[in-house]
Amino acid sequence: MELALAFRSDPRFRKIREDLLALIGEYQGKLAFPGNKEDGSYEKLLHEYGQYRGAGLYYPYLSSGLGRGALVELADGSVKIDFICGIGVHFMGHGHPALLEAALDAALEGTIMQGNLQQSTVALDVARLLLQKAAPMERVFFSTSGAMANENALKIALHNRFPARRILAFERGFAGRTLALSSVTDKAAYREGLPEALCVDYLPFYDPALGEASTVQTLQKLDEYIRRYPGGHALLILEVIQGEAGFSSGSPAFFTSILARAREAGILILIDEIQTFGRTTELFAAQNAGIMDYADIITVGKLTQICATLYRKELQPRPGLLSQTFTGATAAFYGARSVLSELLSGNYYGPQGRISGLARRVRERLSQMASLSEVRIFGSMVSFVVGRGEPEKIRSLVQDLYARGLICFTAGSEPLRIRFLLPAGCLQDEELDLGLAILEETVQDR
Ligand SMILES: Cc1ncc(COP(=O)(O)O)c(C=O)c1O
Repeated sequence: MELALAFRSDPRFRKIREDLLALIGEYQGKLAFPGNKEDGSYEKLLHEYGQYRGAGLYYPYLSSGLGRGALVELADGSVKIDFICGIGVHFMGHGHPALLEAALDAALEGTIMQGNLQQSTVALDVARLLLQKAAPMERVFFSTSGAMANENALKIALHNRFPARRILAFERGFAGRTLALSSVTDKAAYREGLPEALCVDYLPFYDPALGEASTVQTLQKLDEYIRRYPGGHALLILEVIQGEAGFSSGSPAFFTSILARAREAGILILIDEIQTFGRTTELFAAQNAGIMDYADIITVGKLTQICATLYRKELQPRPGLLSQTFTGATAAFYGARSVLSELLSGNYYGPQGRISGLARRVRERLSQMASLSEVRIFGSMVSFVVGRGEPEKIRSLVQDLYARGLICFTAGSEPLRIRFLLPAGCLQDEELDLGLAILEETVQDR
């Protein structure tokens, strides 16, 4: 037996580990909303951090490091209820026992970071888990951010389709904030002052108001680009549910027609699941939409803890094209293994799964709030409009919600929506009700 396994099986280690987890569980058990806010140095901490960043924090949020499920303690002793979860990272909530265990075990490995050159067996486990339900993807390359996963996807596609240089993307899509991706992300403010790094042609996304006429419109535009630049496009990038745009999706006919036409023209298809992976009623939103077979590359991130580019084996690039020093922190790999194992073995997906159940509950609760409109719910992803969604009013509403104890965020524009990325891996009915009661009360008071 290798020594590491002997160490981890040593009853003395197992006892310490158990005691430590029981102890933190004891403190977690004491957490209760809204906590015990103390006046004191917290404001100073926020101010100091704001100075270093050159701008204040979006919320006055600095956590103490202790949390339980949707509850998180801040460094001033107050307790908030978290419905945005680090913009989708903490799907299992705060202080989930399995993730605490994973982090503890990771801390006892010999290195803090995993690398491309040297990694431990946990990286192999995560690769296996990510690919388990990802057919037709058979390859995986890890990275430390969603943007890097998309950068690697761009490189794989451009390399494979050389000399095709152009990228097709959808209006209002978001792909990340590197220099190349700011050319893809359809938001002028995110590329202000930056040179155009890629030639991108935008397609109109599905418009439910137009129905199937929307498919015809987008197909015409796609054909127009294909005629204008014959053989010029390497890749089409698609979010099945546009996250930053406030959760808009397309009809099955829209997706299949566009993707079939792109494939016919020899254009590779990247499905960006950085925000959607794990959150809909199937593991991949592409499975939910019935378009997995069209994908050549899929990127995942956020709740996976480790980001990754999954791709078909035919696209294997030449050695040297993809590399980096870190693939991620050892704790992130242990976390990824724990989250993925839970998602793959727990009852999360399908019409009777936990995510469907959560979505039904949220829909029912939100339907009782008359002041909300245009509610969109895709599994654990939720957005809605309050009033007319005027940006200033919504930003101030979000701060008010925060002050009263509910952490959420915005998405979309005109109208600006309120967005939840719910911690479906832990959320209890009482926590959901508490958060929604804060929402209802706050909206009514305004
Ligand atoms: C669809 C999509 N792609 C890419 C990214 C970029 O991921 P990251 O912020 O980890 O770089 C995001 C982040 O929100 C996203 O929602």
